[in-house]
This record gives sequence, structure tokens and C-alpha cells, in this order.
Amino acid sequence: MGLLTRLSLFITDLDHTLVGNDKSLDLLNQTLEFQRQTNGTKLVYATGRSRSSYLELAASQPLLPPDALIAAVGTEIYLGGSTEPDAEWADKLSVNWHRAEIVAISNRFADLEPQPPAEQRPFKISYYLSASVVGAVVPHLQELLVEQGIDAEIIYSGSRDLDILPRGGDKGKAVQFLRDRWQIDPMHTVVCGDSGNDISLFKYGTERGIIVGNAQSELRLWYELHPVDYHYLAVAECAGGILEGLQYFRFVE
Ligand code: GLC
Ligand code: MG
Repeated sequence: MGLLTRLSLFITDLDHTLVGNDKSLDLLNQTLEFQRQTNGTKLVYATGRSRSSYLELAASQPLLPPDALIAAVGTEIYLGGSTEPDAEWADKLSVNWHRAEIVAISNRFADLEPQPPAEQRPFKISYYLSASVVGAVVPHLQELLVEQGIDAEIIYSGSRDLDILPRGGDKGKAVQFLRDRWQIDPMHTVVCGDSGNDISLFKYGTERGIIVGNAQSELRLWYELHPVDYHYLAVAECAGGILEGLQYFRFVE
């Protein structure tokens, strides 16, 4: 059986990772609440949603209040219950970020359909893009950006969403920033996700990673190409898959 490992920091994506299977979510919430009380575990949501869109979800789902919210695919960090994004993180992202130029270049692509205004954020430009043309559009877009000296990160998720972010402004870098600030070891940190915008959660450090059983093809493919023993692909879906992973890594019985 062996000893349990202490869970100090728990980070999860929301849509189709934490949220999507009501019964398991209740059980996972109880587990996390217990971890918080006994180990002082910090709970962080890392979502593609804006903060206002997160608040809409939180109004309709039983979500525990987090210690921090990473919103807009990593580009905004809200600590505690703060309504203002962390200024140090925003300052980092504003270096070498050329929003207007990126929008102008992207507008040349007829296949890129802008997402609603509420999802356009200071450090996130979002479109819908059909999976059938992604292989042609993304390399071309990246090339045009590089020609202008712009080093942005392009992330495609769920065969539908394309986000353009400052390099180093993704969910994974936001997690590294919080771990540094809170001085938490990767061994005692868990990250969970299901789609393309979660790949960065798994790729920078050695945090324990849980990929839920219903994960999108882009994340599954990445997982298959980067096999390591600190990542686990669950069988169960959403919160059920997270519980399965927490047991696999011996954070819970
Ligand atoms: C969320 C956001 C959307 C983004 C997608 C993928 O759905 O609302 O703007 O494109 O995540 O990151
Ligand atoms: Mg998701």
C-alpha cells in the first residue's frame, strides 16, 4: 500500500475536466475539502474562460471557492477572491506583446472567425477555426507573425478554438508563477486537464499530471508522444478521472 503523498497544490481545468459529471464532482469536492482542512491544500482553477464567464459557470455548478483563478488560458491570475488580475503577471506578459498588430495579421485569414467580444482579453485573442484547415492556417499565421518580429503562442483546442497569447502566458507558465510565489514543490502539485489549452500544464515541470478519460485528441496525442511516469491517463471521465488519478499517485486512499 505505502504511505500517502501530501497534496499541497491542486490545479484543474474546469470545462470537461472538473465539470461534466455531477456525481463524481460531489465526491471530488468532498475529497478536496478534506485535503484543504487536513493539509492546507491550495485549490486553483485554470480555465480558458474569462473571469466573468467563470462566474457564470460557478453560479450553476457546485464549485469550491478557489485560492486562485487562472483565467483566459493563463493570461490572467486572480488571487484569493480578488476582482483584479495580478499586476506582476500582467507586467510580465505585456513585454513584447503587440495586440493590434496580431489582430491585423489574423484578420487576413478568412477561416479565422472571431469569438464573441467577451472572450477577447488584453492578452488573449480568440477565434473559431475548423479542424479541416488548421494544418494550413496555423503555420502560415505563425510565419507572418515571425516576419513582423512577433513571438506569440498559438493554441488550438477541442477541434474548434484558436487562441493567440503572449509567449510564456499560458496556463502552464501561470502555474509555475504560482508555485514560485507559494514555494510549493512540483512533487506535491497536481495538474488536471482535457484539451489543447491544458498541454502547457503538463509540459514545463514535473508536476503530477492527470489527463481525464474523455480528453480531446490533441492532448492524447501529446501524452502519447511524451511518455513520463508522472503523467497519468485516466479511464474515468471528468471528476471521476481526477479521483482515479489522485488514487494512482497515492495522494488519497
Ligand atoms: C474557453 C474560452 C475560449 C477559448 C477556449 C480554448 O472556451 O472561452 O475563448 O478559445 O477556452 O482555450
Ligand atoms: Mg477543458
